[in-house]
Amino acid sequence: MQKEILVAYASRSGSTAEVAEAIGEALRQAGGMVDVVPVKEVGGLAPYGAVVVGSAIRVGRWLPEAVRFVEAHQEALSRMPTATFAVGMAVASEDEDTRRTAEGYLDPVRAIVQPAGEALFAGAMDYGRLPFVTRVLIKLIGIAEGDHRDWAAIHAWAGDLYPVLTDVTL
Ligand SMILES: Cc1cc2nc3c(=O)[nH]c(=O)nc-3n(C[C@H](O)[C@H](O)[C@H](O)COP(=O)(O)O)c2cc1C
Repeated sequence: MQKEILVAYASRSGSTAEVAEAIGEALRQAGGMVDVVPVKEVGGLAPYGAVVVGSAIRVGRWLPEAVRFVEAHQEALSRMPTATFAVGMAVASEDEDTRRTAEGYLDPVRAIVQPAGEALFAGAMDYGRLPFVTRVLIKLIGIAEGDHRDWAAIHAWAGDLYPVLTDVTL
């Protein structure tokens, strides 16, 4: 029987949840049986043969519940193909230093689990989705509003990932 693929994600304002759904949809189109679930709601990894896990970036880091997820399941993840992704505004920055900083967003996760695939995706910023205090902070930091999610790139990455996740020789 075909084992399922889990797409687990951590999101605060919803944009990473939508990226995770798009990844799930692309994996389904490639032929996979896919669950897309917030990391906090994952019951266990037993039904799954592969995992894609990702998080929104906040102040340079994955959200804590996403880090806890990979730490808690480190052993199981090391025995199945696991891909990781991060979603952040810095990925699409016009400033080269900022983009270089973004390239390090998956480093701490790579120290916990060896990924079969990785991606950094540009995110979305909608001040209206933020609590008041966070909105003030974000304006101070200077992150502008905008939706930089590249759906074609997200779909292409997930489609290319499918054979890697389902390769029985791994
Ligand atoms: C408080 C806060 C801090 C953020 N820090 C970063 C950051 O350090 N680097 C980055 O690339 N994006 C940062 N962002 C932008 C988010 O990663 C981006 O908006 C992402 O799409 C949010 O995902 P979500 O809607 O799933 O929460 C930050 C956003 C907020 C609200």
